[in-house]
Amino acid sequence: MTAHTAPPPAPPIGLLVELTHRCPLGCPYCSNPLALERPGAELDTETWKRVFGEAAALGALHVHLSGGEPTARRDIVELTSHASQSGLYTNLITSGIGVGEKLTGELAEAGLDHAQLSFQGADKETNDRLGHYSGSWERKRAFAGYVTTAGMPLTINAVIHRANLHQVGAFIELAVELGARRLEIAHTQYYGWALANRAALMPPRQEVERSIALVEEARARLKGELVIDMVIPDYYARYPKPCAGGWGRIAINVSPTGKALPCHAAETIPGLEFWNVRDHSLGDIWRLNPAFRAFRGTEWMLEPCRSCDRREVDWGGCRCQALALTGDARNADPACHKSPDHERIVATATAESESGREALRWRSYKQKVEA
Ligand code: SF4
Ligand code: FES
Repeated sequence: MTAHTAPPPAPPIGLLVELTHRCPLGCPYCSNPLALERPGAELDTETWKRVFGEAAALGALHVHLSGGEPTARRDIVELTSHASQSGLYTNLITSGIGVGEKLTGELAEAGLDHAQLSFQGADKETNDRLGHYSGSWERKRAFAGYVTTAGMPLTINAVIHRANLHQVGAFIELAVELGARRLEIAHTQYYGWALANRAALMPPRQEVERSIALVEEARARLKGELVIDMVIPDYYARYPKPCAGGWGRIAINVSPTGKALPCHAAETIPGLEFWNVRDHSLGDIWRLNPAFRAFRGTEWMLEPCRSCDRREVDWGGCRCQALALTGDARNADPACHKSPDHERIVATATAESESGREALRWRSYKQKVEA
């Protein structure tokens, strides 16, 4: 990694806090690390509150309260209230499980601005099977009703892969039926559990193309009623996404135990030391932690990124994916067609999408923590 003397960075726009890794679901595409954190090691209420205050002082505009399942924290209302009073726009990213009408009302009263609710499938059977939780369908639908009744905007989040790609149209209908203002159709990103399950999750290219056409038709049809965001699978893209908006550029993730990370998979990159919010202010971490500076900007880039005219558009894609698929985090993300590894990963994706493998390895919080 190249040391460089960059000017002080612009403030982050957002903070994503993984309040806990506890979660009732077992999604096989979970982006949490394979080694999950125990509840006893999580940050306490006062430390999270300090972090929210520091984020606002640093110039951040919003906080995503995430997990695991963030409402597994008993102090979720207190944390939401403090984040809101600190001046941050608050977004709850939830499975909806265990969030009843009373708690939803308390969260709304505490200043929650927005709720983002995941569905694993667009019908009961698919949803409960892929979330590995029987009865989650009814609970999620009930939660959606509590949110809209409380007057909060609702986003439905659907992570798409081979086992539910055929339901893209049904997800759109579900979002309309539940009164959501936004639907995120996000193809699986292959980190953590999803990488372990890639052969069973990778969709065939033709089906992906059909789903893109379907979304485009729905966008035109539902204009003014529902906004549909779509993230297509990296491996079938021509250019990569600007992962995390560019390393150390617009966002900070904080893990349940307080490690500040430029992205949720950053710990997979060896040789980086991630400072903890228990020991350092968020401002110092943002400005000074060498891990945040390691891939900030463009000076660390190798060819073909270094001389590419998109280097400040996608920032070379994803460092974690570059490492996982090429062995060097400085390489161009092989989702990019200019990467010398691109053809190889497309061939792998194609072979896996046709492999017929269907066995999934479920994310298991209990098993991991009790092991
Ligand atoms: Fe992005 Fe690098 Fe590909 Fe250029 S070569 S498009 S900067 S990943
Ligand atoms: Fe780490 Fe993309 S997940 S840079």
